[in-house]
Amino acid sequence: MSIATPSVSFQPNGLLRSIPPYVFWELEARKHAHRAAGRTLLDLGIGSPDQPVPEVVVSHLQEAAGRRELSAYPPFRGHPELLAAASDYLFDRFGVATDPTRHFVSVAGSKEGLTELILALCEPGDVVLVPEIYYPVYVRASQLARAEPVLVPFTADGRLDLDAVDPALVARARVLIANYPCNPTTATVELADYARLVQFARAHGVLLVSDLAYAELGFDGYRPPSALQVPGAMDCTVELHTASKSFNMASFRVGFVVGNADVISALDTYRSNTGYGSASLPQIGAAAAFRNYRDIVPPIVAEYARRRDALVTAFTEAGWAPVTPKATMYLWQSIPAGFDDWGWVEHCMTTHGVVVTPGLAFGEAGRGRFRMSFVQPAEKLTDAARALARG
Ligand SMILES: Cc1ncc(COP(=O)(O)O)c(C=O)c1O
Repeated sequence: MSIATPSVSFQPNGLLRSIPPYVFWELEARKHAHRAAGRTLLDLGIGSPDQPVPEVVVSHLQEAAGRRELSAYPPFRGHPELLAAASDYLFDRFGVATDPTRHFVSVAGSKEGLTELILALCEPGDVVLVPEIYYPVYVRASQLARAEPVLVPFTADGRLDLDAVDPALVARARVLIANYPCNPTTATVELADYARLVQFARAHGVLLVSDLAYAELGFDGYRPPSALQVPGAMDCTVELHTASKSFNMASFRVGFVVGNADVISALDTYRSNTGYGSASLPQIGAAAAFRNYRDIVPPIVAEYARRRDALVTAFTEAGWAPVTPKATMYLWQSIPAGFDDWGWVEHCMTTHGVVVTPGLAFGEAGRGRFRMSFVQPAEKLTDAARALARG
């Protein structure tokens, strides 16, 4: 007896099909093609930390792995050890007082947290104000919520030029996203800049979402501030923190959202309908990291600073004019004349075996620039920069 094979085909739904392919996928595909052709690549494309997970995190995890209660479903809002550690961290690092039971939700990384936040808050047709050069999930999550991402131009010094946004769009805005230190531009702000954003959010009934993914990666004494340091910010602000960059824990997928209690409650409602909370073990690891950030962070930052200096020196010696970043783990500069974005990326891979990220991965306003991540030792970065600068 033969069984007829039904002719069914399955596709992503119309909403997903309407969203253009992710540029980082395209970059992945191109890397695979080069590797399949036998080329060895130095990958500076993705900002995935290569330094080790801190010892104190490893030892806490070894002990936690045997803890019987950690095999049960986790509490929805987060494990109390992480929430308490996060609250203490915010006070010690930024002087921000929070209530671990009301102001926090632990999330599986800030990328996931941002998406959930936007899905929890936005109605179709709402406007989400996004920096014009942006971490891609800001726009994609808005599209998934059927909200309208509206790009906010930067001023020459990398601040958000909110006066340039059409007031009719501001009137429909539900969320304003800020990302300082900025990936990919590396722009930084001072507290006064956050005060302006908080004031805008309050005046327009908008939620300020501060993505502080690079909270600890400041150089030469620069320490990124938190938007929650602005007096009264809790009225209209939430902030995302992550263990990925500060503590080399990108694969653990753990971070937290902190801020306005009503927004946290909305996020909790969304998450409790779709999941079971974040995995407990990564939260225990992150709790150890946030508790010990004063010891963990300096050597990690010192290594990134060495790498930054190696890249900047090599490009400068070759006659380029790189801007020395004050924060993040990236160098962001112009693509040499004669190349478009993908042309330059292909050239770097084919001729020099170096993977860089095209600026258009961060939106049209990023076109003509490229990003290099400090995720290899300084000597390799020097070689890569010298090779690229040769053309
Ligand atoms: C600005 C920014 N926000 C969020 C993320 C996501 O980090 P996580 O690993 O916490 O999801 C990244 C990762 O590169 C980022 O650059």
